[in-house]
Amino acid sequence: MTRVALVTGAGQGMGRAVASRLSALGAHVAVNDLNPETAEETAASLALAISVPGDVTDKASVETIVSKARDELGPVDILVNNAGILFPTRVEEISEEEWDRVIAVNLRATFLCSQAVLAGMREGRWGRIVNFSSTAGKSVSTIGGAHYTAAKAGILGFTRHLSHEVAADGITVNAVCPGLIDTEMVQSTIPPETVQAYAEGFPIPRLGQPTEVADLVAFLTSDEASYITGASLDINGGDLTI
Ligand SMILES: NC(=O)c1ccc[n+]([C@@H]2O[C@H](COP(=O)([O-])OP(=O)(O)OC[C@H]3O[C@@H](n4cnc5c(N)ncnc54)[C@H](O)[C@@H]3O)[C@@H](O)[C@H]2O)c1
Repeated sequence: MTRVALVTGAGQGMGRAVASRLSALGAHVAVNDLNPETAEETAASLALAISVPGDVTDKASVETIVSKARDELGPVDILVNNAGILFPTRVEEISEEEWDRVIAVNLRATFLCSQAVLAGMREGRWGRIVNFSSTAGKSVSTIGGAHYTAAKAGILGFTRHLSHEVAADGITVNAVCPGLIDTEMVQSTIPPETVQAYAEGFPIPRLGQPTEVADLVAFLTSDEASYITGASLDINGGDLTI
């Protein structure tokens, strides 16, 4: 059965890798990003995909994104809440504006996008929501600030709670907790030698690749993962084992 997937923040990094993997598995993909050019680039590289650019922290924008996906591809069966930002700011230096933005892109957007697709999933009595938390959500962020750690911990709570609300309608809700993955987010935040030093300290002494995370997300969105819900799956080379 052909599924319709919406992947947020899919103009680059792990979002792009997830969109690509789901497309290769036959899904029709709505590619969101705040940056319309990168959203379009990702969509153009896939078989049956459209770009649905917009800011996922804004309710009206989310409604536009979801209705465009529904009108052009059909109701969203798979939602991957991947969009995220971080700043490596210490608590004493975080402005209210920066705090609110980090919480909004990571946590509020996860709530807004999930809310917007639930009616369609309930109607189809099938749905998969995968939320991007982080090792930060279970421990402390390596490269982000306290606002990022707080948002990623919040995503784990939201994931558990929503999973209970929707399970009876065939909808699963899970979180992935990547460790240090080789994307623009990491490359633009810390110098390459610091990245290398972190990577060498992991039990599997390297960075993770976006495609490895995409494979885990793809499994969680499959029929085979129908008994997994409310879970948070670590993918971190053994950096955090709890
Ligand atoms: N890279 C890592 O090591 C790592 C580790 C753990 C968790 N994560 C999480 O994984 C997810 C993907 O990270 P990445 O490393 O691929 O990041 P990235 O910075 O490479 O890509 C994130 C994308 O999100 C988009 N985006 C930002 N704000 C948006 C908004 N308001 N609306 C729509 N799109 C928006 C950006 O334009 C960008 O294309 C994020 O949630 C991140 O917090 C990353």
